[in-house]
Amino acid sequence: MLKKTIGVFDSGMGGLTAVQELERLLPDADIVYFGDTGHIPYGGRSRSQLMYMARRNIAFLEERGAGIILAACGTVTSTVLDTLAAETATPLFGVARPAAVRAAGLTKNGVIGFIATEACIASGYNQRLISELLPGAEIVSSACPDFVPLIESGVCSWDDARLRSAIERYLSGIKAAGADVVVLGCTHYPIIAGAINEYLEGRAELVSSSGEAARALAAAIPGASGSGRREYYTSGDAGVFVSTAEKLLGRAPSGPVVSVEPYDIEGI
Ligand code: DGL
Repeated sequence: MLKKTIGVFDSGMGGLTAVQELERLLPDADIVYFGDTGHIPYGGRSRSQLMYMARRNIAFLEERGAGIILAACGTVTSTVLDTLAAETATPLFGVARPAAVRAAGLTKNGVIGFIATEACIASGYNQRLISELLPGAEIVSSACPDFVPLIESGVCSWDDARLRSAIERYLSGIKAAGADVVVLGCTHYPIIAGAINEYLEGRAELVSSSGEAARALAAAIPGASGSGRREYYTSGDAGVFVSTAEKLLGRAPSGPVVSVEPYDIEGI
């Protein structure tokens, strides 16, 4: 029986969508979460900053006992995770491959929409993965830089005109191309899946990169157990973290939330 603590990190609230699924699959597992709200958004940052921040986040989780780590961030996964995996003893999981596998298996017409942050789209990482799995697939990708700031400010409903107009702007090409599967390549996006679905009029299957990654991680550690310990850390305000989680996910984080000083990224 595996007793390792699972560490999960993201730039903010998005990784909580992976934690929710991990909790459902592994209710007794010990989970420690770091939301780097002090440096959000990650999606417009340089590769060297992402490398530095991901290294710091991994070390932070290791210091708190993590024996296996999920980078619940599409941006980190697609830009620096392979490099970090080669230098980190702790097993690292990302959110790209499980979603690509699911999307390639689900599509009927071979037209797959892929939405994520600017850095993630620019890396071409996920598009390459899908093409390798399904040669000939038409991948229509779209960077959605306004989504993370909107979601972190608590905007997640189709009724909100700001979100509606962002969705129309970012997904019109995907809708026009007739994609029958859309990958939510940023872990924040499952929070607005209802609104995206509304815009696509239910014509595309949405694949959650965080949900798929959580299931892949759980499958890799069958029988994992612990004492159900949950710890949440944020480099932002702990109270804001709790209230935003309540608003976006309908419930408070499942353990204490501790605020830590954001590390310095000046000059990186
Ligand atoms: N949840 C992160 C991702 O999956 C959001 C990145 C950001 O902060 O822009 O990419």
